[in-house]
Amino acid sequence: MPISSKTQVFCVLGHPIGHSLSPAMQNAALAEMGVDGVYVAFDVHPDALGAAVAGLRALGVVGVNCTIPHKEALLSLVDALSDDAACIGAVNTLELREGRCTGHNTDAPGFLAALRAEGFDPSGCKAVVLGAGGASRAVIVALARCGAEVQIVNRTHDRAQALAEQLNGRLGSTSIEAVCREPAALGSALRNADLLVNTTSVGMAPEVDRMPAIPVEALHSKLFVYDLIYNPLETRLLRTARECGARGQHGAGMLAHQGALALQLWTGIAAPVAHMEQVILKTLSAREQELRASLDNG
Ligand SMILES: NC(=O)c1ccc[n+]([C@@H]2O[C@H](COP(=O)([O-])OP(=O)(O)OC[C@H]3O[C@@H](n4cnc5c(N)ncnc54)[C@H](OP(=O)(O)O)[C@@H]3O)[C@@H](O)[C@H]2O)c1
Repeated sequence: MPISSKTQVFCVLGHPIGHSLSPAMQNAALAEMGVDGVYVAFDVHPDALGAAVAGLRALGVVGVNCTIPHKEALLSLVDALSDDAACIGAVNTLELREGRCTGHNTDAPGFLAALRAEGFDPSGCKAVVLGAGGASRAVIVALARCGAEVQIVNRTHDRAQALAEQLNGRLGSTSIEAVCREPAALGSALRNADLLVNTTSVGMAPEVDRMPAIPVEALHSKLFVYDLIYNPLETRLLRTARECGARGQHGAGMLAHQGALALQLWTGIAAPVAHMEQVILKTLSAREQELRASLDNG
């Protein structure tokens, strides 16, 4: 669609942002939806975040995605927060309408939608979540809200404990607990689990030979393993789980669903999530080929 004086601008703010897949995914979706819009990426230093949001308000930009390292800082820069954003303590989507800026978090519903798209219903399941960072908070809130029992395992155990206490308090639940990384405790949690979610960055490119420290013998064929990492698509964790008979899935689906939910908030139109996931996969594969070619030539 040609750019005109009526073209709407959408964007993502991050630092760094050069490798973001969002422009490719969201522009493909806007074209498929027939929306006269363009989606761009802005590298915004944390010191400039307030000025950037003020500028977007002044320009009348309606839809903004936000990524590392801005998700927490935005909590204090918005006029209102959705329930999910307030509970998780992070904003990944801004909706700016009539001078009012609302912070949303589409990572949590995006994660659930991606799980369900794989045929896994997390309602009432027993889940082990590896990691206690930003992505973990969204995953745990999503799981706890659909009645799952969640055990958090983290390299820094105190952080897992603090997170369990904080989220139980916010959700009025007792279903979230921290488990230590010691093999006997973690092995027993895994043997009883229906779902294992990796929210750590361990195994992400370029460190593709690494995997989270888990007792592999506790993986079993009734376990579903969701790895939030999408580069590479098959992490060492997913490969190991598959070899143990478990089902597994990479994080490209979550990335597509969280983006689709943001687009729907801004435009009121359902976004073509399957097409968006295809664009992610194609873009990753093109980047891998470029990297191989540059290694071969260099
Ligand atoms: N698919 C999606 O849509 C999606 C969305 C969001 C994030 N993600 C992915 O999720 C991952 C985490 O993102 P985040 O924003 O949550 O990051 P984060 O806030 O920095 O948290 C990182 C987590 O990984 C753990 N960790 C890091 N290095 C480790 C190591 N060497 N050994 C053991 N644990 C380690 C940290 O443990 P400590 O607490 O001990 O430091 C922490 O729990 C990234 O790979 C990101 O790309 C995917």
